[in-house]
Amino acid sequence: MQILPNFAVLEGGDGSGTTTQLRLLKRRCVEYGFPLLYDTYEPTGGPIGKLIRAALQGEPRLRAETLARLFAADRHEHLYGPEGIAERCARGALVVSDRYTPSSLAYQGIDCGDELPRLLNASFPAPELLLFFDLAPQAALKRLESRPRREVYEYLDFQIQVRDRYKALIPQYEAWGVRVVSIDAGAPPEEAARQVWSAVKKMPILELFNTPSY
Ligand code: TYD
Repeated sequence: MQILPNFAVLEGGDGSGTTTQLRLLKRRCVEYGFPLLYDTYEPTGGPIGKLIRAALQGEPRLRAETLARLFAADRHEHLYGPEGIAERCARGALVVSDRYTPSSLAYQGIDCGDELPRLLNASFPAPELLLFFDLAPQAALKRLESRPRREVYEYLDFQIQVRDRYKALIPQYEAWGVRVVSIDAGAPPEEAARQVWSAVKKMPILELFNTPSY
C-alpha cells in the first residue's frame, strides 16, 4: 500500500466530533508557528460531493452501490484534481481530511458488503496518520439530536456497526504502514484536542518545527 506523506485523516462515527477537532487543530498549528495546514473534508464541496450530500438527505434516492461509486469518484477528484490533496502534500503542506477511505470501508461495507468498497478504494494511497475518534454510538447520536435534519446513516443500529467496522479496520491500516491513534472522543473537547495535537505533532513534517511543546 502506498502511503501519502504529509497526509492525515480524522475518522469516526457520526457525531464523534471530527469537524470541531479539525478546526481546533488548525488553530493549534497556527499557534505552533506552522501555517501550512490545509483542512479539507469528504464528501467534498465539489459537484459529486454535493450530489452525495443530497442523497444522504434522501433525495435523490440512489442504490447503495451507486453511492459507493460516487464516494470513490468524489475522492479521486479530491486527491488528484487541481489543488487536490496529492498536489498539496507534494508541495510540503500538511493536509488533514475530515473522512477518507476508512469511511467508505466502514459505512459502504455495511450496505454493499466488503468487496465493492475495497475494490473502489484499492488504488488510493493510505494516509500517514489515521486518528480514530472513538465514542459510544449512544452518546454520539445524542450530540446529533440538536441538528435540524437526520441523514440516512444516523441511526443507532447502523452506528453500532460503523464503530465495530472501524475497530476491525485499524489493524488492517496498521499492516499497511499507517500510524493509527485512537482519540477519546467522549472526553471534553480541550482534552480530545490535546490528544489530537500530540499525535499530529509527531508527524515528520511537524517535527521539523522546534517551538515549546504544549
Ligand atoms: P460527515 O462528515 O458526517 O458530514 P456532516 O458533518 O455534514 O454530517 O459525512 C457525511 C456522512 O457521509 C457520514 O454519515 C459518513 C458518510 N460517508 C460515507 O458513508 N462514506 C464515505 O466514504 C464518506 C467520506 C462519508
